[in-house]
Amino acid sequence: MEYWSSVDIYTEWDIVAARQLGRNEAKKSGFGTVDQARITTAISELARNIYLYAGKGKIEIKRLSEDGLNGITIIASDEGPGIPDMRNVMTDGFSTSGGLGAGMPGVKRLMDEFKVETELGVGTIITATKWLR
Ligand SMILES: Nc1ncnc2c1ncn2[C@@H]1O[C@H](COP(=O)(O)OP(=O)(O)O)[C@@H](O)[C@H]1O
Ligand SMILES: [Mg+2]
Repeated sequence: MEYWSSVDIYTEWDIVAARQLGRNEAKKSGFGTVDQARITTAISELARNIYLYAGKGKIEIKRLSEDGLNGITIIASDEGPGIPDMRNVMTDGFSTSGGLGAGMPGVKRLMDEFKVETELGVGTIITATKWLR
């Protein structure tokens, strides 16, 4: 079973809406308040990156249920400039804007699975999953 929902990211208000959606979906999946906070922080970081670096894009939230295992997947996608140096980006301390969530390495730590697909001049798709245990 999968359940999808999404928020288009154009303005800073859309970042707030994406966080809210993520919190609600995490709650429905059965995540506790601490994990809900982890998931919303990850969504904030990814949505803010879309807003800042790509201008627009979308956050999709997928609720998963596989063989009795529940989880949530965040898909952040844009058709922006792409990320030139992924290896540096995943190094702690590379993050420039000093946000609370510690940038992309922070997102990777907050979630269980983390994948970046990016191509210069084409865009970026980041997929991050957290499982309920
Ligand atoms: N969606 C994106 N499109 C293009 N570049 C991006 C995107 N997300 C991140 N980046 C690049 O990766 C860098 C690191 O992102 P991040 O770890 O969130 O740190 P910060 O946003 O604080 O700089 C950004 O400074 C930006 O250059
Ligand atoms: Mg960032």
